[in-house]
Amino acid sequence: MKIYKISHLAIIATLAIGVFSCSEKSTEQVTEQSGSTVTLKEAYADKFLVGATLGASMFTTPNHPSLALAKENFSAVTLDNDMKWERINPLPGKFNFEIADQFAQLGVDENISTVGHVLFWHSQTPDWVFKDDEGNLLTRDALLERMRERAKMFATRYGSRIKIWDVVNEAIEDDGTLRKSLYNQIIGDDFIEQAFIIADQEMPKDATLIYNDYGMNRIGRRDTVLAMVKEFQQKGVRIDGIGLQGHWGMVNPSAEIIDTTLTLYAATGLRLHITELDVDFLGRDGMTGADVDIEKLIATPENNPYSDGNVPAAAEDKFAARYKEIFQTFIKHQKSIDRVTFWGVTDGDSWLNGWPVVGRTNYPLLFKRDGSAKKAHDAVIDLVK
Ligand code: G3I
Repeated sequence: MKIYKISHLAIIATLAIGVFSCSEKSTEQVTEQSGSTVTLKEAYADKFLVGATLGASMFTTPNHPSLALAKENFSAVTLDNDMKWERINPLPGKFNFEIADQFAQLGVDENISTVGHVLFWHSQTPDWVFKDDEGNLLTRDALLERMRERAKMFATRYGSRIKIWDVVNEAIEDDGTLRKSLYNQIIGDDFIEQAFIIADQEMPKDATLIYNDYGMNRIGRRDTVLAMVKEFQQKGVRIDGIGLQGHWGMVNPSAEIIDTTLTLYAATGLRLHITELDVDFLGRDGMTGADVDIEKLIATPENNPYSDGNVPAAAEDKFAARYKEIFQTFIKHQKSIDRVTFWGVTDGDSWLNGWPVVGRTNYPLLFKRDGSAKKAHDAVIDLVK
């Protein structure tokens, strides 16, 4: 039998008693699946942080197995939804801090880096944010003030417990133009710059301030981000990091394109963060990026072929090879990369079970639904053994 870390065994034993409904495997079978004696965070400790996203249910369900896996395997965590404006402050004066508070405390208790996701994003932001008491759109100054209040609220409550912040998310389109959001409409084309000025003034001085987006390899977006960073640097507007989400496919972007993209962003001198990594195992019917506002498709036997959980070994191998080439590229750029975060812990946690096809059984991450490690997990670790 292959060796598996004792602490992994404890977690997997918990999983095997049925917390994961999809699992029919015994503990013995599960331990056979991984030959790794080190965890991801241990293996990459001298290179970059390896992170994962946590969801609300991991805090509200006692002994949630994904939370245990996250503590064991990852050195950074991000909340998938519960710091977004609509969750933490759905109405004026109404705040839901329950999940975010536990998240911030987890970072302290477990010595795990916590990432604030996200200060300003056009999506999952309630309408009231952009309107006055009469329902009219705010003035530029009033919206900037509202944004400042939000930054202050986080800084006051969490201070240096949250040291990495996605300041602005997805504000640039594929073609490099600015996204036409209410932020942009009300504030103007300097919305991103104003957001970073506010973050610099209000967030802790030791925080890393990041611009985060998907499809960062696309030439239009890439060139706009590079030009923006250069402009900020010339003007003295603080920006510390570039966040490449990394919602990638089985083939695209190629390792070569990822390599070129990282080289260009690294040349800015900013720190690079891979913020939302996953590999869409099932493909995406021509969709690229991660725009949550697209019209979604319905699951069919053709686009949802492994709904019974039986993934062919050859497909697992291909998936492992894809993660291997991605991590080889990250290792090549390790001097510029501070963090690689997966968007979810296990396949069951992934947003790709619902995008761009609703109700699929997708397999985009390194841990299976039953919490056992995949070949891809071991391939990623083997690269640095
Ligand atoms: O919590 C409600 C539940 O009460 C309700 O019954 C259910 C019905 O649809 O919805 C649940 O909320 C969903 C939420 O995820 C939690 O599962 C929302 O509808 C759904 O829209 C939301 O999706 C999130 C998405 O952002 C929304 O924009 C995903 O979980 C989250 O992973 C995803 O994360 C984004 C990043 O923030 C930015 N980059 C892309 C990334 C992936 O889309």
